[in-house]
Amino acid sequence: MGAAIKPLVAGNWKMNGLKAAVSELQALVDGYDADLAAKVDSMICPPATLIAQFADVTGNSAVAIGAQDCHVNVSGAHTGDLSAQMVADAGAVAIIVGHSERRADHGEGNEVVKAKAEAVWAQDLVAIICVGETEVERKSGETLDVIKAQLAGSVPAGATAANCVIAYEPVWAIGTGLTPTAQDVSDVHACMRDELSKAFGDEGATMRLLYGGSVKPSNASELMSVANVDGALVGGASLKAADFLGIMAAYK
Ligand code: PGA
Repeated sequence: MGAAIKPLVAGNWKMNGLKAAVSELQALVDGYDADLAAKVDSMICPPATLIAQFADVTGNSAVAIGAQDCHVNVSGAHTGDLSAQMVADAGAVAIIVGHSERRADHGEGNEVVKAKAEAVWAQDLVAIICVGETEVERKSGETLDVIKAQLAGSVPAGATAANCVIAYEPVWAIGTGLTPTAQDVSDVHACMRDELSKAFGDEGATMRLLYGGSVKPSNASELMSVANVDGALVGGASLKAADFLGIMAAYK
């Protein structure tokens, strides 16, 4: 491998958090000292209602602020939707696309996810593209095929290490307390590295590959030390600054 990839620990707050939760963000900013910031990048993706407030607090300096989704179009008659331009305007520097909860709850397939990633790039933001197998797919031995197909279908041409982050999130590990073994994570991340390197050359070889699914302070060191794991996408444990900092401590 070439130069070391700087890891990223990103928090996905999902549909959680009211204005008062800014105190957790402040605690995170306070605990994320220069020493830690030199070793690991940090991001919080709050619900869209909090993006502007949170971006004001962080100034997108130490802790970056991201969004959890966007529409494929930049504006128009799409009641209830938000465009990448709108969340960028509110202060987001990255957008999660293709999270399994969007894929499942909103029927978003690879084509839509790919179009969303392109919409993210059109605003010069970073796309955090999620992939992951279901429990049934894992049990039937299809994991690597599913991941390859999702990468091929969801990651647009033009992906670079700067504009794209991939998050491997086994659906069965999200919010369940279950995690794959280090070997299983290693197998998937090696496969993703291989596929992305074939597709995007050096850019794919240096793109950040996050693991997500029940990451918490007690398992972060083990998961973050797996080869080709360049950080984490954290749900539940990102809501409390102490837990999130405890996960980042894996990189101290
Ligand atoms: P979890 O969620 O950490 O609560 O399992 C991860 C995610 O869905 O991004």
